[in-house]
Amino acid sequence: MEAPGEAEGAVGPGGRRGGLRCRHPVAEMLDLPFLPFSIFLGGLGFMCVAFVSAWCQHWRGGFALDGGLQMFNWHPVLMVTGMVVLYGAAALVYRLPPAWSGPKLPWKVLHGALTLAAFTLAVLGLVAVFRFHNNHGTPNMYSLHSWLGLATVLLFSCQWLAGFSAFLLPWAPAWLRALYKPVHVFFGSTILMLSVASCVSGINEKLFFSLRNGTTDYKCLPAEAVFANTLGLLIILFGVLVLGALARPSWKRPDADSPDSCQPLLTAER
Ligand code: HEM
Repeated sequence: MEAPGEAEGAVGPGGRRGGLRCRHPVAEMLDLPFLPFSIFLGGLGFMCVAFVSAWCQHWRGGFALDGGLQMFNWHPVLMVTGMVVLYGAAALVYRLPPAWSGPKLPWKVLHGALTLAAFTLAVLGLVAVFRFHNNHGTPNMYSLHSWLGLATVLLFSCQWLAGFSAFLLPWAPAWLRALYKPVHVFFGSTILMLSVASCVSGINEKLFFSLRNGTTDYKCLPAEAVFANTLGLLIILFGVLVLGALARPSWKRPDADSPDSCQPLLTAER
């Protein structure tokens, strides 16, 4: 007879299901625990926010709300914080070991709240750049960066509304939620990739604008360029690590594909 917890489908220590995730002993040895990884990733996210803030404060004149150049500086800070760091944290909520057992509802609410906070920061970041452009008579939406960025934020807003309606409100039938879930997962990763691409193109564009007419040429690699290029690399590393963590099978919630994972917010059972 099977011992309790050894039955197929039972969640074992660390959240792994006995019988369902049979892995090679070498693979087990190389298995990276989620906790140190998430601490490292949290530190990296903090560094991204610290670097973008330090760049804008030290080299670009700091922050203000007057519609001038210092108002623009809110744009990179809010976009990196919202669309990359907070969004990345929201994407990994279901990978936290405490989220593996028990009801999924609190984690869904946390995921929805973090993505909503990310979206709010992104909208404020866009308000900052549009106000700056309008105050200076600069045309809107002429660059590849602006097209890519706006498309990313629009996709994010559709994703949030569709996710909220399908997974948190009661009217979507179970079959529709099950059908939509892989689409939601696919676009979740896609939006993060597009956000990283938007940030990198924005950093590049800002450096070209600021250093071309400044006292130091970009091609002489002044300290500001080294710093902002490093910021770009940190953002890419953050994005790659989040995507890697999302793809790692052993960090997925064991019942990720069960009908419960499609349970809405407002039902009698929860
Ligand atoms: C996901 C992140 C980002 C998104 C979605 C985004 C989106 C946008 C959008 C839609 C505009 C056009 C505003 C207008 O036409 O009035 C814009 C402008 C701009 N952004 Fe970003 N941005 C992001 C990150 C960044 C970052 C990190 C920087 C770094 C400094 C940056 C630098 C700029 C610059 C210099 C402009 C003005 C020139 C232009 O319109 O291309 N952006 N951004």
